[in-house]
This record gives sequence, structure tokens and C-alpha cells, in this order.
Amino acid sequence: MHLQKLTLLDYKNIEQAELDFCPKLNCFLGDNGAGKTNLMDTIYYLSFSKSFFNPVDTQNIRHGREMFMIQGKYARLDTDEVIAVGFKTGSPKTFKRNQKPYRKLSEHIGLFPLVMISPSDSILITGGSEERRKFMDGVIAQFDRQYLDALLRYNRTLQQRNNLLKYFQETRSFNADNLAVYDEQLVFYGTSIHEKRKQFIAQMIPYFQKFYDFIAMGKEQVVLNYESSLDQGNFQDQLTAARNRDRAVLFTTTGIHKDDLHLGLGDFPIRKLGSQGQTKTYLLALKFAQFEYLKNAGEIKPILLLDDLFDKLDANRVGKIIELVANDQFGQIFITDTNREHLAGILEKMKTEYRIFQINQGKVI
Ligand SMILES: Nc1ncnc2c1ncn2[C@@H]1O[C@H](COP(=O)(O)OP(=O)(O)OP(=O)(O)O)[C@@H](O)[C@H]1O
Ligand SMILES: [Mg+2]
Repeated sequence: MHLQKLTLLDYKNIEQAELDFCPKLNCFLGDNGAGKTNLMDTIYYLSFSKSFFNPVDTQNIRHGREMFMIQGKYARLDTDEVIAVGFKTGSPKTFKRNQKPYRKLSEHIGLFPLVMISPSDSILITGGSEERRKFMDGVIAQFDRQYLDALLRYNRTLQQRNNLLKYFQETRSFNADNLAVYDEQLVFYGTSIHEKRKQFIAQMIPYFQKFYDFIAMGKEQVVLNYESSLDQGNFQDQLTAARNRDRAVLFTTTGIHKDDLHLGLGDFPIRKLGSQGQTKTYLLALKFAQFEYLKNAGEIKPILLLDDLFDKLDANRVGKIIELVANDQFGQIFITDTNREHLAGILEKMKTEYRIFQINQGKVI
């Protein structure tokens, strides 16, 4: 699959643009603040029906304007497809595939698979457990519709259960049967989510190790450990055991919404030990593993967005990464850089079809 044409209107600092891409490598070149990441974000938007950076769409409209529009024309499984999103302040967002609006936006997820590698990935290491759950969910949901559905239902049930706990408190009442209805649903959806997360991580580990070894040329072992209270026993028993505590704190204290992912290198958490370059290498390997996982899980090679890829890496590692992405296992790639000489050196080595777009103050030249 590849994006052939991107048409934009008033998205962040980009007033208007029309870009024709090549199926392999596309580079956005420009100074800091030019709009390279914003362009990446529009491509992300078309795959996920939302911005990678800002979920508040009014803030994604170019300052002083009332609406934005993003349209992409793709070649997907030998068919041309058009994805178009429009948002106007005060109106609901329109999101269409071949002129047809979706019934639910979640139906779109996974049809145009994409992996974004960006400096903000570091939040996986520095952020709270919800970032790491989001990572797992984001990957699995891209090819497993039932997973996404289970997750949405689990979260809705969780919200309802928490509301009920608050209602008990406010009305000084309690009804175990009412709670049991929600528990049953949490157990049903939670158990399947837990199973799939476990499988996903188990499959990711060898890919992750392979990419890490390749880029770092080292012998360290990367550790990905999925941590869930559901590993400690029956979920329903845990809900029952936590009932009094839940009633006291007014929310559900146990379940897959508390899961975490331990990220380690050798015997230590990467958070404690990694230098900036090591951390970046670690995250890159993890995201390349995500790419490989998605590629193998579906029938479509995901689009790969590489934002500020070379920042903080030494020449050896940059060389390894170029060697890696030049490989045929990747499909269409978008890359940003601020330095033309640097980019030229990279492209020289890639020996692949490419196109360069110069970005200047929100304009594509
Ligand atoms: N809604 C908006 N309206 C107008 N401009 C915006 C809006 N949102 C963000 N911007 C501007 O877009 C610019 C940032 O663009 P972007 O992050 O794409 O830069 P970049 O080319 O990736 O730079 P760097 O090399 O530093 O990563 C900033 O100057 C920011 O103020
Ligand atoms: Mg940027």
C-alpha cells in the first residue's frame, strides 16, 4: 500500500499543499518549525482518524481559520482509494472513505496500517503505565477488530462500574447484584484482552531483539515483560476481593486497565540506565518490531513515518538504520530532516527511488 497524493488545507501551519509521493521513499526537508512534523501528522491522521499529537481538533486548524481539510489518495491492494477528513469549528468531523462516511470511526482503524516513529516515543519510557497500554492497544487494534471492540466495551463498562460505586456512596446504598452485572462484563472482555496482550508481547520479543542487535551491534538482551494482575489468578476473584477497597476509593482498582509493560535492557529498566542514544536505539528497535509484527499480522505493509530519526544517534547507528530501511521488507517511507547534506549522504546509500520536498514556513516548495 502507498499514499500517492496528499491534499491539505489549513492544517496547523500548512495553508495549502498538494504533494505527489513516490511509492518508496519521501523526504520532508526544512528548518525547525517549517511544518515537517505537521505533514507527518496529516498522514497519521488519515490512518487513525485523529492527530498523533493533539486530540483537540479545533487546535489543529490553522490559526485564524475555521476549518481544515486533509485528503489522501492511496493505492491499496491494487485499488485506488480516497480518504478525506474535514473539520469545521462547531460541527462534527467528517471522515470518509471513497466519499462514504463511516458509521463508526473505529471501523477505519487498521485498514491503512501505519507506524510512526517520533521523538515523542520516549514517553513510552518516561510516561505512566497508560502510555505503554496505549502502545499495546494501538498495535493490536490495528489488525484485530474484535480486540478494539472488546477494549471499547471494557472501558465503557469500567466507567459504568465506577459511576455505580459513586452512586452507592452518594445514596448510602449498596447492591451486590448491580455490581455483579458489570463484573461479569469486565471479566468477559478483560480476559480476552489479557490473552491477546500476552500473545502480542510474546511474539514481539524476538523481533525486538533482532532489531536491537542489528542497530546496536551489541550483545545486550532486551526485556519486554507484560505485567498484569490477571496473571496472579482469576479476575472475578480479584474483583470480589477488591470490592471493599473499590467502594472506599470509588473506582475499580483491579483489572487490565492497570496492566503495564516492563521495558528493560539486561537486568535493568531502560528508564534507569539508558543514555539518550541507547534509549533512542531501544525505542527504534521496539517500533521496528511493531512494524514487522503488523506486517506479518495483516496482508498490507504499513506506511512508515520516521520523524527526526537521526537525531542523537552516532554515525554507526545511523548507518545501520539506513541499511535497515533500505531493505525491501519496508514499503513506503516518509522521513524528515533539517540538513540537506546529511540527507543527500543518506539517499546516496539507499539506492532506492525517492522524492524530496522542501518545506518552508508551512509551504511546500
Ligand atoms: N493550529 C496551528 N496554526 C498555525 N500554526 C501552527 C498550528 N499548530 C502548530 N503550528 C506551528 O507549526 C510549527 C511547527 O511545525 P512542525 O512541528 O511541523 O515543525 P518541524 O518542521 O517538524 O520542525 P522541527 O525540525 O523543529 O521538528 C510551529 O511553528 C507551530 O507554531
Ligand atoms: Mg518536527
